[in-house]
Amino acid sequence: MKIKSRITFLASTSIVLLAGCAALPSAMDLDQITANAVKASFRDEGIVKVSVLDTDETSRLCSAADVRGQPLDEATAKRIEAMNFKSIRWPADGKFLGDWKQGEKLAQSGRGLTWTDDAATPNGANCYNCHQIDAKEISFGTIGPSLYNYGKLRGVTDPNSPDSKAIVEYTWGKVWNSKASNACSNMPRAGHMGILTEAQVKHVVALLLDPKSPVNQ
Ligand code: HEC
Repeated sequence: MKIKSRITFLASTSIVLLAGCAALPSAMDLDQITANAVKASFRDEGIVKVSVLDTDETSRLCSAADVRGQPLDEATAKRIEAMNFKSIRWPADGKFLGDWKQGEKLAQSGRGLTWTDDAATPNGANCYNCHQIDAKEISFGTIGPSLYNYGKLRGVTDPNSPDSKAIVEYTWGKVWNSKASNACSNMPRAGHMGILTEAQVKHVVALLLDPKSPVNQ
């Protein structure tokens, strides 16, 4: 009874799709119907466009794995990581580190990407929402690991030396596109999704790796 009334409701939002199905809709049909219903409930508003609901193959495969309650098989995970790795844009001038002070401000700010935000205001990076970073900041989330002493613990004394190359590149890649090194990472793909500009990514990378940053004291 309950299922039937749900289907009737959904059908009213997506008659065309259901018309093609002779029997009850499959789980995939229901997913599509739900996606259509969600999409139909939103409109472009301010800087937020309905296209934010569009998902790419990475999100689709990871969401499906989540629904199944099983991690991705290894081959698919590797394929997703390789695909995301390929999309990383490396700094055009070869310089990976910006100004850690600006990085700290960005890490603190969760502004941006909502319809009340002015398109001219730069987005924040929102890192503290999930990570401890500077030990002086006592308000932080714990979805991600602590990044306090991030560079120091990894032995980065000079980020420009060849010894630091691997960790500098890994850090850039993680911030630009977290799924390049972890297929279904819960961390947003800050560079890839256009949340942060290249200059902003440099600042947060400096926050983590500059030996002068409070993160490494
Ligand atoms: C929604 C939560 C979330 C946000 C926001 C977030 N992260 Fe993460 N981050 C994670 C999670 C979860 C992990 C661990 C899984 C992984 O590595 O993908 C992680 C991992 C990392 C790592 C790798 C740590 C290691 O030891 O390998 C770095 C570096 C990092 N985040 C930096 C940042 C920075 C800088 C920001 C802000 C631009 C940020 N994160 C924003 C959730 C988040």
